[in-house]
Amino acid sequence: MYTVLAMNENLAGKRILIVGGARGIGADLARRTGQSGADVVVAARSGPEVRIDVTDETTIARAAASLGGFDHVVSTASAHHDVPVPDLEHDKIQAAFAAKVVGPLLLAKHFAPRMPAGGSFLFFSGIVGWKPKPGTVVKGTANAALAALVTHLAVELAPLRVNAIAPGITDSGAWDRLPDDRRRALYDGAAAASLAGRVGALEDVADTALWLLGAGGVTGETVHVDGGARHR
Ligand SMILES: NC(=O)c1ccc[n+]([C@@H]2O[C@H](COP(=O)([O-])OP(=O)(O)OC[C@H]3O[C@@H](n4cnc5c(N)ncnc54)[C@H](OP(=O)(O)O)[C@@H]3O)[C@@H](O)[C@H]2O)c1
Repeated sequence: MYTVLAMNENLAGKRILIVGGARGIGADLARRTGQSGADVVVAARSGPEVRIDVTDETTIARAAASLGGFDHVVSTASAHHDVPVPDLEHDKIQAAFAAKVVGPLLLAKHFAPRMPAGGSFLFFSGIVGWKPKPGTVVKGTANAALAALVTHLAVELAPLRVNAIAPGITDSGAWDRLPDDRRRALYDGAAAASLAGRVGALEDVADTALWLLGAGGVTGETVHVDGGARHR
């Protein structure tokens, strides 16, 4: 059986940088934007193509200077520090905010001046920013901060557009590091806690991202792709 995945004709011929594009949601988005005819450059902290570590401004500045302009810049970068408050570690708190908040700011600093008026940034927040629970204070706060950040950047960088996607629990490969029984329990719990009744799939996120990259009237928004789980 073949699944026909949606494409976005608005992306044909567009140049797109995907930071975090070597795996997970970023890799899927690289594939899908490529299928839509975009010229896609994947950046990762290590790998064969372009090296960008969003916690290291020199790698961002170097990439921006050497790669030239992009129509769209995407970042999926994240670093998690999911522990109860008594176990918080200063460096890991900083790393989480460096990946999700400072990183997008620095990508904007170095890439926005080289982007055309129809260009956009797309960053990745996450449901926990709107569903506090013990042990997720760092991730939740960083995700919520990113939602605030896109509104501020959208105003300052206009007419460039700046948006975010906030996925719910998504079967992206990121959870494959968990033992099978724990991953299954996570997915079953996420499905039960959503209105859609299932865990998120890569195509849920990529379909939204493809639309958002070409949605010329949408900026400063965080689009929730969580199966309605925020509303339970
Ligand atoms: N999957 C979910 O259930 C879920 C739920 C809510 C929100 N999200 C958010 O969606 C985004 C993508 O998630 P995912 O499931 O695809 O996770 P993932 O597989 O862990 O991917 C994270 C990506 O971030 C990159 N990255 C991490 N630190 C970086 C840094 N300092 N500089 C540059 N790149 C860096 C990694 O690239 P390297 O190859 O360089 O390591 C990797 O490609 C994340 O922001 C995540 O928080 C996901």
